[in-house]
Parts: sequence; structure tokens; C-alpha cells
Amino acid sequence: MKKHIVVIAGDGIGQEVTAVGKQVLDAIATKYNHEFTYDTALIGHAAIEETGNPLPEETITKSKASDAILFGAVGHPKYDNDPSAKVRPEQGLLGIRKALGLYANLRPIKLFDELLSASSIKPEILRGADILFFRELTGDVYFGERGRTDDNNTAYDTMIYSRYEVERITVKAFEAAMTRRKKLCSVDKANVLESSRLWREVVQEIAPRYPEVTVEHQFVDAAAMLLIKDPCRFDVVVTGNLFGDILTDEASQIAGSMGMLASASVGDTTGLYEPIHGSAHDITGKGVANPLASVLSVALMLDISFGMKEEAEAVVQAVDAVLKAGFRTGDIAELSTPRDMILGTQAMGEQVLKALL
Ligand code: IPM
Ligand code: MG
Repeated sequence: MKKHIVVIAGDGIGQEVTAVGKQVLDAIATKYNHEFTYDTALIGHAAIEETGNPLPEETITKSKASDAILFGAVGHPKYDNDPSAKVRPEQGLLGIRKALGLYANLRPIKLFDELLSASSIKPEILRGADILFFRELTGDVYFGERGRTDDNNTAYDTMIYSRYEVERITVKAFEAAMTRRKKLCSVDKANVLESSRLWREVVQEIAPRYPEVTVEHQFVDAAAMLLIKDPCRFDVVVTGNLFGDILTDEASQIAGSMGMLASASVGDTTGLYEPIHGSAHDITGKGVANPLASVLSVALMLDISFGMKEEAEAVVQAVDAVLKAGFRTGDIAELSTPRDMILGTQAMGEQVLKALL
């Protein structure tokens, strides 16, 4: 198959981990006789530096014309302590999600057995955990009206959802539940928020279409607690943009590290595949970032955007084999890990490539 991929590496470790992701794509192309062509595009701080705009028009045009996007990360510490900055790297990521209509963010949380003791959660609680989050990605307080009062003493962000937005992500989540353990948990804050009451109403309306799926509703505070207390109770979780952002970072601990979690953002057009971790400027340029989230994002791309199930499975198996062989990056290493088994970004990538051959 011929596929055209736009690589948007972005900021910080985005550059380093995406380079490994691309090598994996190349290895798959060779092994399975596909032809992958690439283009690159700017976003985030890197784009601001070069063009003054965190999301240049050209990035959108190239993305729309591609079959899939391999994304790195956005962010820069310079903005984190400057709340007054009007132009920010994150606007690039939020903008591209909106521009491409990528309303569904799939975040699979699955623990590789080898990492059972790398997590801060007890192994007996974790064993068997396998959750698929559907985080709504183009609505909520992220995109609602925001501002300040004239006297600058009050600020507001509006949490807003429309029926169609809840419907389309809910349907995707139910469809996924049907292919899994047929359990769906919808997370909201319907005891307080009107937008959550609409959310719950819509999920309840759609539920009868999927009589085989067991549905539960949890308030976000309780869901946060249950994720750590009993992660195995969850199968598919569907939630809004903000709650999903927070809960999936929390849930990354179930998989051992943020460095392991991949995500797929899909919707009306080209899918975008990215690690859930950020730009991590504290380790940027040191060559120690875990590239496995980017590698696993490639697996999601092969599966979801290209329908290459076998190829996707081969990538996941390669990651599994590398972990089984004992190789670790710093974030997933344990006290008992021999020092020579703790690899940098590129060396970890090479092990994955070897395992793929
Ligand atoms: C994520 C990130 C982004 C978000 C930031 C970088 C804007 O945290 O993809 O989870 O909040 O969506
Ligand atoms: Mg986040």
C-alpha cells in the first residue's frame, strides 16, 4: 500500500521520539512491502520561532492532504511561567485538533506484563488492567468562551457541550465496547454541571441501541479514585475533554509510565497519532526519552488509519519482545534493572527495529 505521512515532531523530546517512530514506519514499509512517503510540518514553539504562528496554515494544508499524521509534542517552559503570553505552543495542538475535526481521542491503557512492578501501583491490583479511554477532544472548557472582566479581576472559561458532540463520541465508544468486554463507563460531573447533565442524558439515550453493553456512570472524582483502587473494573471509558485529559495522565501510571502511552485522535479526516506525554524539556536533548509511546502510536496509525492489523500487531509484539529481553529506558527502569540494560532513546529504538526484523 502507498501512504503519505506528515511528521509533526514539534517541541522538546517530540523531535527525538518521533524520529524513532518514523524509523519503525520505515521498517514496516520494508518488511511488508509498503511505500510510505513523508513530509514534515511545523507546530508549537518551533513554529512560533520560525513563523510567529504556533499553527502555520501550511501545517494544516499538508496535514489535510496526508493519510496520517505522526505527532510529537508541543510546549516550552518559557510559557509555563508566563500566564500573560498571548501566543502559546499549545494553541498549535488545540488548533490542529479543531481544524481537522479530530473529536475522538483514543487512549489505550494496557500494561505490558514485564512492567508490572515498574508501576507505583501494587502488581496484584494492576494485573489484567486493560482500559480504552475515549476522550472528547474538540469541545468542553478547552474551546468554550473565555475571557476576563474589564477590571481584569475575574476570569472565566465556559464548559460547553452540544448534543451532537456527545453523541458522536458516545457512539464511537459503544462501538469499541462491542468489540471488547462490552462495558462502558461514562464519566461526568452531573451532580454539579449542566453540561455534564446533558452528557449523561445523551449517553442514556444511546445506551438502548447497544443492549449487550453494560453501562455505568461515574462522577469524575469517584472515577479518579476507582482507577487507582480497582483499574480492572474498567473496559471502555468515555468522557469529556478536560476530565479525559486529567484521568488519562493518572491512568498512565497503570501502564508504568507516561512514556508508554500512545494515542490516536480521529474524526472526520486524517488521523493524528501522538504519545500522551508532553515535550519534557527537563530531559530534552539528553537522548534519554522513552520512544515507546511514539512507537506504539505508529502501531495505532497502522491499525486505525491504514487497516494494517498484522503490521500493527508486529509493532506491539516488537515492543513486548524488547521489554521481555529486559531493555528499559530510565522512566521504566527499576532498582533491580542492570545499568547496561537502561537504554537511551535511539538505542531503545534500535532494539525495537531489531525485534521487528
Ligand atoms: C494532551 C496535552 C494537551 C491537552 C496540551 C498540551 C494542550 O496535555 O494531549 O493531553 O491538554 O490536551
Ligand atoms: Mg494531557
